[in-house]
Amino acid sequence: MILILQLLLALSLSLRADGYDSYQVVDCVFSSSDLSDLEYIDTFYFNKDPVIRFNSTVGEFVGFTEFGVKSAERWNKGPILQQERAQLDRYCKPNVKLDFTHVLEKTVKPKVRLTSEKQASEGRPALLMCSAYGFYPPIIDVYWLRDGKKVTSDVVSTEEMANGNWYYQVHSHLEYTPTFGENISCVVEHASSKEPIIIDWGGSFRDSDRDKIIIGASGFVLGIILSTAGFLYYKKKSPEFV
Ligand SMILES: *[C@@H]1O[C@H](CO)[C@@H](O)[C@H](O)[C@H]1NC(C)=O
Repeated sequence: MILILQLLLALSLSLRADGYDSYQVVDCVFSSSDLSDLEYIDTFYFNKDPVIRFNSTVGEFVGFTEFGVKSAERWNKGPILQQERAQLDRYCKPNVKLDFTHVLEKTVKPKVRLTSEKQASEGRPALLMCSAYGFYPPIIDVYWLRDGKKVTSDVVSTEEMANGNWYYQVHSHLEYTPTFGENISCVVEHASSKEPIIIDWGGSFRDSDRDKIIIGASGFVLGIILSTAGFLYYKKKSPEFV
């Protein structure tokens, strides 16, 4: 995967459809985390065409149009060349390091849900769906276990889908004919967690669900008690009609 850190310096003459656009794009291109292949690329465009480019691997300016070639010749003799040669260390390295610490090495654990999509009926198989939500980065492994053995058939998974906010989701379907006493689990492996996340399909409540139900029920009872008390108090305080 090649990553590009891009800075757009729009030295725009005009951005109207019937106008002209002169702009400069700075790229830091790299594919390995040790930054051994990091390149600094500084390109000047007119409308959509590159006119002149500095590439840190080449080490000097290269022109693409007649004007660009002439400018490159001149710039390669001037002080700007030394400035450009310093930019790989001065601009790209520190910024790409920030990308690593703030984005590329960050992981966010998926929330995994296991649901029944279809019950088995009249000889037709049941369908379970295992969904992982809100994880980053997109590389993830979702698979199924039947009595501890990895299921290799009757599984259909979606691609990792981008939510558009840096988070991803994925859904895996398992078609199966229920057998008595069988254990089915969905397993999710992701960089955010050393241990695989395993959700067992039991039909019964999981611990977290049970806790939620207990908290919800307690809140409900407490609400009834408080509102009854409030109502009685109100009745006592308000003047009685005769
Ligand atoms: C920079 O120049 C090197 C050497 O010519 C080339 O391999 C590389 O693809 C160039 N990089 C970009 C982003 O154009």
